[in-house]
Amino acid sequence: MGFTVAIDGPAAAGKGTLARALAAHFGFGYLDTGLLYRAVGARVSEGQDPVVAAHELSDADFARDDLRSVEMGGWASQVAAIPEVRQALMTYQRDFAARPEGAVLDGRDIGTVICPDADLKLFVTASAEVRAKRRWDEIGQSMPYDDVLAQVRDRDARDMNRADAPLRPASDAQILDTSELSINDVLTQAIEAIAALRNA
Ligand code: DC
Repeated sequence: MGFTVAIDGPAAAGKGTLARALAAHFGFGYLDTGLLYRAVGARVSEGQDPVVAAHELSDADFARDDLRSVEMGGWASQVAAIPEVRQALMTYQRDFAARPEGAVLDGRDIGTVICPDADLKLFVTASAEVRAKRRWDEIGQSMPYDDVLAQVRDRDARDMNRADAPLRPASDAQILDTSELSINDVLTQAIEAIAALRNA
């Protein structure tokens, strides 16, 4: 049986970096589930119906180079509030999680909805200011910091307050706050937790 790691948390908390590093360390598959919602959002930004878009995703959608933009993050957050969109993306995520070599998935509802039986659940978070600063640096400080902070807060509010699969830690998730911890500290903690569980 594969080992499944569920990593949730708000935008720019460091969960993608952690997930990628853990997958590389243990030879697990890695799925950035935010990209699924971004790919749906990209189609919707071009006028397509969100539910049709979610059913029609193919590899070509993930080759777009604008998926990680701030704008697509906003579209993704809006389509992610539609229950039929979430439902359409569920089987793909669960199949990925069951990979025999092991899997790390990161997103907003992995520990609560997609993989409630994950072997390890982590909730990675940081203050809105720290996360906005990281996003601002990532985009080369190409827009005012206050605008990035406002977008981070908007997205948090939408992701946490939606009715279907809102962002929240699973009751059995370990909470990791990266406001003051370095990614290496967090990675070391997570590697130790996985190694202990696999040897148990
Ligand atoms: O992780 P990200 O910033 O790429 O995610 C983009 C949006 O997609 C996020 O604002 C909410 C949504 N999302 C979600 O609802 N559930 C997930 N498992 C992953 C992302």
